[in-house]
Amino acid sequence: MGSINFSYPVNREPNIAAQNLSSSSSFPEYFKKLSSAYSRQTGDSTFNLIYSFLQHLPADVTLNEQSIIHDNAAGPGTATIAAMSVLKKEPAKIVVTDFTQGMIDNMQSRIDQEQWKNITASVMDSHELALPDNTFTLTICNVSTSTFKDPLKCMQEILRTLQPGGVCINSQWKKFTVKDIIHKAQTSIRPDCKLFNMPKAEFLNDGVLRDLMLDAGFAEAAQYVETTIITDEAMEGLREFMCGNLTASARSGWTEEEAARWPAAIDAAIEEETADNGGIKMEAWMVVARKAGS
Ligand SMILES: C[S@@+](CC[C@H](N)C(=O)[O-])C[C@H]1O[C@@H](n2cnc3c(N)ncnc32)[C@H](O)[C@@H]1O
Repeated sequence: MGSINFSYPVNREPNIAAQNLSSSSSFPEYFKKLSSAYSRQTGDSTFNLIYSFLQHLPADVTLNEQSIIHDNAAGPGTATIAAMSVLKKEPAKIVVTDFTQGMIDNMQSRIDQEQWKNITASVMDSHELALPDNTFTLTICNVSTSTFKDPLKCMQEILRTLQPGGVCINSQWKKFTVKDIIHKAQTSIRPDCKLFNMPKAEFLNDGVLRDLMLDAGFAEAAQYVETTIITDEAMEGLREFMCGNLTASARSGWTEEEAARWPAAIDAAIEEETADNGGIKMEAWMVVARKAGS
């Protein structure tokens, strides 16, 4: 096994084959475009969350060399890289799945580069996992649930594929500051404009993710909060995202003159946030849900 570092592999072009899974996510095109620059344009925020949580897991959650892990809707294997960074060696197995081919290509490049033997990466829809029942000791679904068409169905699939007594770590934003910065920039230019939409925003609310796990049939679910503050180069990556085409809908119908003021408005909102919090501060709900049995 090669040395572990936090960088993601260079992207290969997304494959068109993934498009037949498009109907299972609210934003298939969005993730296809994002896959080439995922780590930078998220400011590594999703990595920071899960890495930090895995470093101080609740006492009843096991992550060790015997773990059989599913990194579900994994992006470019964010939680897998975090788990490997904590363990410093390969566990018994990690199955990485995501329905965006470009994300899986990124993970596969990393697997090839590191010569990992126990980690596989496949394009797969979280609504219908092509994985056997009662398989995993730990499933991680990091900041992905709100992107599913049918979150309950996806959680039932996680439950089915966990071993009795197995655990799912599921996270969702509690404070998605990117949205707040975009809203501030929008209203500073066009006070009356339609605010940038965040799909399934109900997951920001206290208890919604935990209740989803219980509704799916998990025997118990506990909720924790994790915080990350994005600074320096990572903040620059997030700024690129907020200024770029993936947020174009926030400027929909604007004049050229208004749109030209967008980067400065984003910078002003970032400056305000940094003055308050020393960077862009984001918070997430981390839910630990357990399947019945032992
Ligand atoms: C916000 S990203 C999070 C990625 C990763 N878990 C992380 O921590 O960075 C959401 C991911 O969910 C994937 N996704 C959305 N709908 C999916 C579905 N129905 N099946 C599998 N993956 C899906 C997207 O392709 C994207 O990679």
